[in-house]
Amino acid sequence: MNNFQYYNPVRIVFGEDQIKQLSDLVPTDARVLITYGGGSAQRTGTLDEVKDALSANGNREVFEFGGIEPNPEFVTLLKAADMVNEHNIDFLLAVGGGSVIDGSKFVALVASMTEEDGTVSREQAWDALTSYCKNIDSAVDLGAVLTIPATGSEMNSGGVVNYSERQAKLPFGNPLAFPKFSILDPTKTLTLPERQVMNGVADAFVHVMEQYLTYPVNAKVQDAFAESLLKILIEEGLVVKNNPKNMETRKNIMWTATMALNGLIGSGVPQDWTTHMIGHELTSLHAIDHARTLTIVLPSVMRELKDNKKDKLLQYARNVWNITDTDLDDDAIIETAIAYTENFFRELGLPVSLDDVELDASAIDPIIKQLDAHKMVKLGEYGTNGLEVSRRILQRAVSSKAS
Ligand code: NZQ
Ligand code: ZN
Repeated sequence: MNNFQYYNPVRIVFGEDQIKQLSDLVPTDARVLITYGGGSAQRTGTLDEVKDALSANGNREVFEFGGIEPNPEFVTLLKAADMVNEHNIDFLLAVGGGSVIDGSKFVALVASMTEEDGTVSREQAWDALTSYCKNIDSAVDLGAVLTIPATGSEMNSGGVVNYSERQAKLPFGNPLAFPKFSILDPTKTLTLPERQVMNGVADAFVHVMEQYLTYPVNAKVQDAFAESLLKILIEEGLVVKNNPKNMETRKNIMWTATMALNGLIGSGVPQDWTTHMIGHELTSLHAIDHARTLTIVLPSVMRELKDNKKDKLLQYARNVWNITDTDLDDDAIIETAIAYTENFFRELGLPVSLDDVELDASAIDPIIKQLDAHKMVKLGEYGTNGLEVSRRILQRAVSSKAS
């Protein structure tokens, strides 16, 4: 196991009917900006519940900013940051999924980058994003009410922002972006369309894989934990598909998705975020849902990089899929595990190749160009996978039949 520091200050408040805890969690004299997405928080009544809890005690002043898109847009977020300054906001409350929480983290980090006229500087904020928001040393306090289990944003300090005009979807991370708390009420997930539920299961699955599928460093806790999370997602993903009202399943999916990306299983182990980095370009160029880009790319990453990842692939086959057939050689075991993974994604109704989303080989060149522009040229657990490797991964992903 490698050396590591593990730090996670996020208070998790989990369970049904817990939104009312906001009255204790948000300072009673705060000037609060509630941020939310395209309307689901209003339609489902969650926004009203949040406002009721905030007005239950104290003398908070509450403002609202709606309209944060899935894959939150840089330009929209700067408008929210302007509102922070205009109303002297000292607490951001994100109500939604990864997009709203990520977007609000970015707002919290860039709100102080103002021009002389008091508006947030587009260029400074862009510079901050292209340097992953690493060097920012102040931020507005932030809390979250999670409405879709998927990204883990509720318990980590990272985010992803999309800037359509510049065809860039870029990740950032800063310890100041850890939410002070996140409320996880699994009943809030019952209003999600099936597509979003399945996306969430797949996103969490791939988060685990990116921290697990590298090379062994004898990190027994992290490995066993990761394998358990994968098995829970496989089991509960199929249950929720067939029985969406099952509350026990909803609870387990919600907590699993949080645990998948709160830093725990990634501590002290090598990581490989290739699938996500290629996936971000697919979202930015073709507006494909984040999770769907991952299910398209991951099987090809596993195949293309199977020599580097051989030991972990065999461990994955054995411990997650229970492939113990002694007649199979290593290659056959690995291919079986990849095929099972693809089949799992398909059972959730997710694409596993570019042709599943009506793209063909002509999509590859623009993606490679964008990876180059975004300096994604040394990917993988060894930091040695250049653009030619990403190209081969994408070529394998053109058609699931050809892989
Ligand atoms: O916008 P509204 O109207 O709220 O609708 C949303 C949106 O259309 C809807 N929704 C959310 N909760 C709902 C609901 N509809 C009905 N009932 C509810 N309870 O679901 C749609 C998707 O929401 P979004 O927030 O975009 O989904 P998700 O949580 O999957 O977030 C995806 C974003 O997170 C980033 C992705 O790149 C993407 O931009 N990620 C963030 C990470 C992180 N912070 O660590 C890691 C991930 O790898 C990921 O990259
Ligand atoms: Zn993800």
